[in-house]
Amino acid sequence: MATPLQVRVQLRRDGGRVGPREGPWVRAAQVARAWGPADPSALAIVEDHRGRALGWGLYSPQSEIRVRVLEWAPEAGDRRQPVELTPQVDWLERRLTRALAARDALGLTRAGTTGYRELNSEGDGVPGLVIDRYGQDRVVQITTASIAARAPQIVAWVRARTRGRVFVTSPARAAEREGYPSFSESWAGLATGDADEPREGAGTERRADREVDREVDREVDREVDREVDREVDREVDRERDLGSDVGSDPDHVAPLRFTEHGLRFAVPPPPGQKTGGFHDQRENRAAIAALAGARGLPLLDVGCHVGGFAIHAARQGALAIGVDQSALALACARENAARNQLEQRARFVEGDMFAPASWLPALTCDGAPGAEGFGVIVLDPPAMARSKRDVERARGALARTIAALAPHVAASGFLVVCTCSHHLTRAQLDAALLAARGAGRWTRTHALGPGPDHPVAPGHREGEYLRVNVYQRR
Ligand SMILES: C[S@@+](CC[C@H](N)C(=O)[O-])C[C@H]1O[C@@H](n2cnc3c(N)ncnc32)[C@H](O)[C@@H]1O
Repeated sequence: MATPLQVRVQLRRDGGRVGPREGPWVRAAQVARAWGPADPSALAIVEDHRGRALGWGLYSPQSEIRVRVLEWAPEAGDRRQPVELTPQVDWLERRLTRALAARDALGLTRAGTTGYRELNSEGDGVPGLVIDRYGQDRVVQITTASIAARAPQIVAWVRARTRGRVFVTSPARAAEREGYPSFSESWAGLATGDADEPREGAGTERRADREVDREVDREVDREVDREVDREVDREVDRERDLGSDVGSDPDHVAPLRFTEHGLRFAVPPPPGQKTGGFHDQRENRAAIAALAGARGLPLLDVGCHVGGFAIHAARQGALAIGVDQSALALACARENAARNQLEQRARFVEGDMFAPASWLPALTCDGAPGAEGFGVIVLDPPAMARSKRDVERARGALARTIAALAPHVAASGFLVVCTCSHHLTRAQLDAALLAARGAGRWTRTHALGPGPDHPVAPGHREGEYLRVNVYQRR
């Protein structure tokens, strides 16, 4: 096999510590010099200032994050030992395969879920790549130059394992930061691979009884998949019967359809919000809905997107109201409520979450669902602090919104404050609540994060981004 193209990246003597505990990123400011082509398809051997190999990884010659280390030398911490490092030729395929095997082991499809993250960037050892499953379809999101350089290989791999469509999206901000052209493409139709073939496992499990268990699991998963296929077919037929434009308008791109804890959802495919939906909140939607259902008081879902928290709560018997500023997301939310026969209990209104005065009075006035207070209010804003510089401003905006919403939480009810910005910590969320004058007395009952399909590499602090603090009114 051909040796992959390599560059040598030597670190500055005074560049600060690098190693597994510092996480996989080597920043441009830590680099003294590099030998080799400025080519993001190259693998980088990272050396200390004396030329000792510390690890190897993906090279982004124009990025502030210059190398994303895939493997550290075992002796990286021992300055006395010389180290030989040989990048694996087939590292990418191995890691893709391992990520799928890890998802199979989570048993999500058995819990009625076909919408989840199949590969989570650094958390699955492939920095810059996300693969989200939406029922039969897959969305591949690329955010680094080195993954963009490998996009054809990755897309071919995904297509060979997917019966549905494969969308590829690369946000303009990431492309600009990394110095490659942004793009968004989709491949429709059946892939050539047979998705019914059992996926290749990661290890060499030999015990026959475990293999039997696994085969049973796979068969259950395949049956769930087949049921999803049949349901998607029935739904396309139904929408055709209803005169919807699915299949008749050549520009219409059918939504991504998936199930989540047995509920049926559709989201607009990319380009749009992230990969289409927000799988990272899946387990939280179910958990928070259970809180709403316990007392049966209404739930207010602020930043509802396609209705996730609201529709889960409606299934638990609570009345739910979703608010978002995106008309497209709200249209999908209404369709999703109808898809689950919950439109009587879940309704959706357009509004700016940072200006609650423009929509909240209509929901809380005499006779409105929130007149007696909400059992749960969820505040799930978009990313508000892309850098440390943004934190103060974001915290101020959150505090003002919390101050407007919090008085409408019923006694012993819950306020759920979410952030998907790495720089906004749990303590910053606490601070936003404390700064919200007149917000009342609160205690934090839950500190939630993303589900297990969003693993984080130990040491990779930047990989922790979703924080969900649940406060109870006292
Ligand atoms: C992180 S997503 C919410 C995800 C959603 N809660 C879920 O569980 O799927 C943030 C949402 O906020 C919406 N949004 C962004 N800015 C907004 C604003 N100023 N007012 C209302 N909604 C906004 C976006 O359209 C998006 O749906």
